[in-house]
Amino acid sequence: MTDFAVLPDPYRVEPIAGTLDSTVVLPGSKSLTNRALIVAALADGTSTLTGVGLSDDTEAMIGALEALGIQTEVDGTTVTVHGRGGALDVPASELDANQSGTSARFLLPMLAIAGSGTLTGHEQMRGRPMGDLTKALRGLGATVESDVLPIPVSSGVTGREVSIGAEVSSQFISALLLSAPAFRDGLDLTLVGTPVSQPYIDMTISVMAAFGATVDVSEGRIQVAAGGYEAQTYAIEPDASTATYPLAAAAIVGGRITVVGLGSMSLQGDAEFATRVLEPMGASVFVDNDSIEVRGSGILDPLSVDLGDMSDTAPTFAAVAAKASGTSSVTGIGFIRTTKESDRVQASVDELDRLGVSSSVDSDGFTVSGGPHQTTAVDTYEDHRMAMGLALVGLTDAPVDINDPGCVAKTFPGYWDMLATLRAEARPAPLVLAIDGPAGSGKSTVAKLISLVLRLPHLDTGAMYRAVTYAVLQAGVHLDDHAAVTAAAESATIVVGPSSVVIDGVDVTTAIREPDVTAAVSTVAAIPGVRVVLAESQREWARKRGAAVLEGRDIGTAVFPDATLKIYLDASVDERARRRASETGDEDLEAMKIAIAERDRLDMTRETDPLTVADGAVVIDTTSLDIDGVVEAIANEWPSRQ
Ligand code: CDP
Repeated sequence: MTDFAVLPDPYRVEPIAGTLDSTVVLPGSKSLTNRALIVAALADGTSTLTGVGLSDDTEAMIGALEALGIQTEVDGTTVTVHGRGGALDVPASELDANQSGTSARFLLPMLAIAGSGTLTGHEQMRGRPMGDLTKALRGLGATVESDVLPIPVSSGVTGREVSIGAEVSSQFISALLLSAPAFRDGLDLTLVGTPVSQPYIDMTISVMAAFGATVDVSEGRIQVAAGGYEAQTYAIEPDASTATYPLAAAAIVGGRITVVGLGSMSLQGDAEFATRVLEPMGASVFVDNDSIEVRGSGILDPLSVDLGDMSDTAPTFAAVAAKASGTSSVTGIGFIRTTKESDRVQASVDELDRLGVSSSVDSDGFTVSGGPHQTTAVDTYEDHRMAMGLALVGLTDAPVDINDPGCVAKTFPGYWDMLATLRAEARPAPLVLAIDGPAGSGKSTVAKLISLVLRLPHLDTGAMYRAVTYAVLQAGVHLDDHAAVTAAAESATIVVGPSSVVIDGVDVTTAIREPDVTAAVSTVAAIPGVRVVLAESQREWARKRGAAVLEGRDIGTAVFPDATLKIYLDASVDERARRRASETGDEDLEAMKIAIAERDRLDMTRETDPLTVADGAVVIDTTSLDIDGVVEAIANEWPSRQ
């Protein structure tokens, strides 16, 4: 774990040159840990919590529970809690929530159960609102003498029915719910307004249910039966808010990051950050029961999104928005300006501005115009999420210096170590599966199937040569005018998607397969300048993706001579002509044979990067092979499948 005594301040986050390729194990969810600690403390008997995320916040909670007479033992990430069936001691001194919002909120009703005592916290916590909660406790008959910390409580809950404002912080609602089974008559809670952060209320109820509580939810009303909790062994999920940082790093830097232990069954709303933010911004996201994987290209589209129910991800959003190619905005998070460790709306805007990324505060969130940033030191407002989010900006383009890096200890003391591990495990060059071969050898079919099997992006480089050929034919450029054809290749923007090809905004998917393009493409592809331009853009494309399948004529010889795996597909001219004829519906097989043989001749005899078997390539003659067998054989050679 990072030794904060020797951590430089500011801490410089340097760009990562390669592409990410890591599987990360993250600390347990702080939100789940603090809920489970309260519930286990009120339960009858000994509970064991595994996968606990120990941090300043959870330690504040454990310390406070000890002060309330609940014995705990911590062993690595396992915490044993000796519940006393709802009995709590009056604390001998002030109960200290330190900087932890959940601890402060969850502990106040616990003090009411204990009967008396004073709740206090770190200075920053004293400015954070508690009023809706103190008011509700008073409504339940408790004597609560202040609306901000320190808060003396001198008598407990006697009633059952109360209403609470739901629009400031869901933590007030969760706080009442968690203690409610230990109230004399349980709780009948009416919610006034639409709750912010509904997933956190769902999370609270699900932890309560796991420990045997009966909770009834109906529109605007939650009822909890009295009767306490039963002790349990309970596994805490990794922290989904924390998971947003490495997952966003994959989208920003490019490459792959997998977070294990979090998946489609997660209790945490923030587990949807990847699918609701990173995917629409262009990353590929794979979620199963037990993992979330993001594969990014380093290229991010702008996004406007409402993060009202996952507001802790706002600083992560600020970082990805800073990297997007356009203007992004977040709405629905106005309430975090007063309830969190800092005003994360203003803080995000101020620090992005400092980095030279223009942004502005909106009525309910903020707007960011993505673009290059400059190296500077940014403030972190004693706010772990501001530090962790802003650090992501430094992972590409230019370093960023993080002031007070130690503040991450609040929830993730190992954060800087995790970034160092991502850096150490990054691959200096992309993983490339190169598939070369002549027309009709099965390249495209095999490349497409294998990209699905290996979950890798796929680039048909032939489509790029065809697109340039189409463009120059359209423009009437003479094919002997190499300078003009090269200039056309250089200025063109070509986007080859899974099922479309677009050049300079024009969809040419069908047009590039027409006979005039097919007849001219090998002449265009023989022009050295064209090859230089397209090969470089193919390298850039693959570098951004970290790992990819590229098919063409020169991938293993010229574009990526160090490719991870090289395949050369071949087949007899007769068979290749037959395949091509059946694809195009052309009936003149003899003419097809002649055309294919002529293209072979041009491609194999040109001066620059002719079609030939690359050094180290596996040659597969597909004349009489079935495609599935070829795909499986190649997939088995791929490193991540071994
Ligand atoms: O699909 P088909 O085999 O007809 O060819 P393609 O992959 O679409 O490529 C069309 C032409 O582009 C080839 O005949 C080559 O002349 C050229 N090409 C190249 O020179 N280098 C590549 N990496 C890919 C294609």
